[in-house]
Amino acid sequence: MSNAESQGPVAPILLTGGTGRLGTALRALMPELVAPGREELDITDLSSVERAFEQHRPRVLVHAAAYTDVAHAETEKALCWKVNVEGTRNLVRAALKHDLHFVHISTDYVFWGDKGGYREDDPVGPVRNYYALSKLAAEEVVRVLPRYLIIRTSFRPSPFPYPVAYFDLYTSQDYLEVIAPQVALALQNLERIPYHTLHIATERKSVYELARRTRPKVEPRSRQEAGVAMPEDISLDVSRWQKLRQEWLGKAEGLA
Ligand SMILES: NC(=O)c1ccc[n+]([C@@H]2O[C@H](COP(=O)([O-])OP(=O)(O)OC[C@H]3O[C@@H](n4cnc5c(N)ncnc54)[C@H](OP(=O)(O)O)[C@@H]3O)[C@@H](O)[C@H]2O)c1
Repeated sequence: MSNAESQGPVAPILLTGGTGRLGTALRALMPELVAPGREELDITDLSSVERAFEQHRPRVLVHAAAYTDVAHAETEKALCWKVNVEGTRNLVRAALKHDLHFVHISTDYVFWGDKGGYREDDPVGPVRNYYALSKLAAEEVVRVLPRYLIIRTSFRPSPFPYPVAYFDLYTSQDYLEVIAPQVALALQNLERIPYHTLHIATERKSVYELARRTRPKVEPRSRQEAGVAMPEDISLDVSRWQKLRQEWLGKAEGLA
């Protein structure tokens, strides 16, 4: 028996939310991800989570499943909490029994969104909506683990899906085809990330500016016209991530 054979197969990276927007993009970039569907791994059911962990014995868990409908979360609070907080708690409970690295996908919404340029160690909250509250609570559940990384990010499908975009709302979000490869890069270099929290996003810009990149005729609107309270500047400081990428890829690549 060769050395490699005697060591057995390498434990997989398990992904929750593999049918979602980010999950689908990650699976395309990293075919080695093992992504059971909800029928096999329902995060709201502890026994389902424990079965999946026993079966796959992952060395890394990437938790991208969530209740993500921000508007409906206001009227479906119980479901949003069950998936985002209790679901994460079930995964954390199971993870405590397995020696694995827990990667949790979180959001820029954990910040209030008035001053922008939020660093990983800035105080979080208060939050603007129930979805954001549930994601913030989920982060804290994950922080009890010995080995974890919380990735705060924000992405949009392209082309920009609306005919109007806010010129006075600032963000560091980007399109999924920009963000997903960066998240994949982080996952591929997980052992080289010396942090528990990492912002993966791009430069600060208005939503209008972002929208024009994929929808040139999009019309500028003020967030005052939105009818609901919106953040003014929810942008994340991404210098930690930029520095890591530069170390790994080198400056020659012309990093975005
Ligand atoms: N979209 C954004 O702009 C954004 C911004 C920042 C952060 N995030 C975070 O990024 C992650 C991915 O977001 P996304 O937009 O890609 O999500 P999404 O498209 O809404 O997909 C949600 C995923 O979660 C799964 N899921 C929901 N409830 C589940 C349960 N009980 N058990 C197992 N799986 C369940 C869904 O499975 P089914 O297909 O079975 O429903 C689906 O695969 C989330 O953590 C989200 O909070 C998103």
